Amino acid sequence: METTKKLNDILVSLFNNVLKVEEDAIKNSSRHNLSITEVHTLTAIGKGKAKTMTQVAASLKINVSTLTAAINKLVDKKYVNRHRIPEDRRIVKIELTEEGAEAVREHEEFHWNMINDVIADLNEEEQTVLLQSLETIRDFFKRQRVRTIKGDAPLKLMPLTLGDVTIPVPIFQGGMGIGVSLSRLSAAVAKYGGVGVISAAQIGFLEPDFYSKPKDANIRALKRNIREAKEAIKDAPNKGLIAVNIMYASRNYDEFVEAAVEAGVDMIISGAGLPMSLPGDVKNSKVKIVPIVSSARAAGLIIKNWSKKYNRVPDAIIYEGPMAGGHLGFKEEQLEEAQEHFYDTIMEIKEEIEDLPGCPLIVAGGIYTKEDVQKALSYGADGVQMGTRFVTTEECDVHPKFKEAYLNASKEDMAVIKSPVGMPGRAIKTPFVERVEKGRIPPVKCNRCLIPCKAEEAPYCITQALLNAAKGDIENGLVFAGSNAYRSNKMETVEEIFRDLTS
Ligand SMILES: Cc1cc2nc3c(=O)[nH]c(=O)nc-3n(C[C@H](O)[C@H](O)[C@H](O)COP(=O)(O)O)c2cc1C
Repeated sequence: METTKKLNDILVSLFNNVLKVEEDAIKNSSRHNLSITEVHTLTAIGKGKAKTMTQVAASLKINVSTLTAAINKLVDKKYVNRHRIPEDRRIVKIELTEEGAEAVREHEEFHWNMINDVIADLNEEEQTVLLQSLETIRDFFKRQRVRTIKGDAPLKLMPLTLGDVTIPVPIFQGGMGIGVSLSRLSAAVAKYGGVGVISAAQIGFLEPDFYSKPKDANIRALKRNIREAKEAIKDAPNKGLIAVNIMYASRNYDEFVEAAVEAGVDMIISGAGLPMSLPGDVKNSKVKIVPIVSSARAAGLIIKNWSKKYNRVPDAIIYEGPMAGGHLGFKEEQLEEAQEHFYDTIMEIKEEIEDLPGCPLIVAGGIYTKEDVQKALSYGADGVQMGTRFVTTEECDVHPKFKEAYLNASKEDMAVIKSPVGMPGRAIKTPFVERVEKGRIPPVKCNRCLIPCKAEEAPYCITQALLNAAKGDIENGLVFAGSNAYRSNKMETVEEIFRDLTS
């Protein structure tokens, strides 16, 4: 009781005093005449490139009209410049003036000095203990925030109901192109109650007319894989769903969606861009539609756009963090910060979708063990999506040499490469990756698979590199892999993974 009371007093006074000290430091600044809210607004604008009003409002969690009033004052005080961009006069961008940047610098300095003073008399061991204790307290309060949204739901993978369908075990196997997740892997996952995902990316790569008529070959193979997977699980007693992953950046996106619906798929998952047209593309079918997002802002935009235009909301949302395999929804320079905020982002998205009843949040990127699953659940996830762990399964459709590359990889072999579509991609450092890092490998042939890719400028042909890997030519191939691929040290079955994660 004594300890409880002391801890409570310490936390309350710590919170009040830090705020007071900060407020006083700002008030007593000889150089700047700013309030604490104004300093925090300047910090949110940041010292880098100009930002839109919407971006800054989102990071401060206020609406744009409140921000506009604050920015008016900061412009008058000459701390912020505001301008409309010439390409689209509706968009207003704001950036710090020299004076604004100086105020942010002064404030940062105040924080560093304060912390340095706090730890000045502590030795290394004491600093470590302090850090660990504070981390525990911080994580506790974060989880309290989730509790207010999620209630006291147990940290277990609980069945999900999406309208008229149930997913007995909320484990989604990530869609993995080219040729990594096809009918066999997806059927195995759905058989044990999860969501098995077929990747539509260049799925027709083994069809005889793939090079002459890529669209026809891909659509034919997509339909065949969906039908095979559905057939394989039709008598399974506790089955989950068969989904397809269709990247929004794919050429002929709408035709792939139409083909998947026609073949009887249960769910369509789309990332690599915000899939704004997806509700229109599935028309009136009962297929479930699930976007992949990398931030609460992206989730909010999709919900707003779909509701307004189609009177529809997502059936679930997948948040994919920066540790995932394949193309990442972050710029390379954002990866580290995004990972630091991975669990905060789970909470933010959960809060963003709190008004959508029955819209679960599925979390992906670096989820590998049961502990990873539980941690994601403790921050508000309702389920997980895993790619990397399913690659080294007996059922995974890819060439054995691809799986071998995972089994042989060490932590140092994990790489982030530039993809020709402009996003970074996470992969294993194969000889091909090393060659690309040294210089451009001009594409020989282009079937214009992804809209943002331009063959004339591309550092290499991503389809050819992924195709080589899918066919077992690792020397000349790009082996996409999540940050945990080096942890694979044995082949498993899908059943073993489900048992491990749900026991
Ligand atoms: C080999 C491989 C290929 C992938 N291909 C795609 C893809 O074509 N489209 C997509 O949206 N995500 C793709 N991903 C991402 C996965 O669907 C999944 O969300 C991600 O890998 C989850 O992170 P984890 O691998 O750490 O579990 C790929 C991942 C891997 C490992």
